[in-house]
Amino acid sequence: MRFFLDTADLDEIRTGLDWGMVDGMTTNPSLIAKQGKPYLATVQEIARLVPGPVSGEVLATDLDGMLEQGRRLAALAPNVVVKVPLSPAGLQAVRRFAAEGVRCNVTLCFSAAQALLVGKAGAAYVSPFIGRLDDVGEEGMNLVEQVVTIYRNYDFETQVLVASVRHPVHVVQAAMLGADVCTLPFKVMEQLYKHPLTDVGLERFLADWKKTGRSFDD
Ligand code: E4P
Repeated sequence: MRFFLDTADLDEIRTGLDWGMVDGMTTNPSLIAKQGKPYLATVQEIARLVPGPVSGEVLATDLDGMLEQGRRLAALAPNVVVKVPLSPAGLQAVRRFAAEGVRCNVTLCFSAAQALLVGKAGAAYVSPFIGRLDDVGEEGMNLVEQVVTIYRNYDFETQVLVASVRHPVHVVQAAMLGADVCTLPFKVMEQLYKHPLTDVGLERFLADWKKTGRSFDD
């Protein structure tokens, strides 16, 4: 499973890259707004830092606007993937971009029926939003299971990019279902490393050795 980071915070991105676990990035207008920096310049800076796909989202919702903004995003760097919302115009844009060799990530997917349309449109990625479904009392991971099954049934090339991830259990469940990618807030990537027994175990190992009064070389 590939891990993308879901952030526009450059410090988090640098740390994730140092850890060697970041295969790509997703951003959205809310995440970029939090940084208080210009939109396109932020996507460009992230694409420069990250050696993998970087999703930059269009702000337009009409076809012409999405095509214009998507082309400008794609021109920033070869690793930019154009993120478009799930709508008739968004999926028309996906087809147009595919013909131009521009990869798209279709965002805000909340049903298997929507994901089926995304696969037919030929997007590079579909982003089912798991946490937001959980938030409204649905089982978000059921959607991942349905989408993975449907895409396998028809050999769709669209990759399942699990989004709106809230905790490590989401990541493990998505991996067990065979999703292609999980995009993680930095906090969730950090949590993946942690287990209380790891901390306690390490403390005990070091304390036991310390009691001997000897060093690493003795
Ligand atoms: C994905 O591309 C989105 O940016 C993201 O996962 C949204 O997550 P949220 O529901 O935590 O805002």
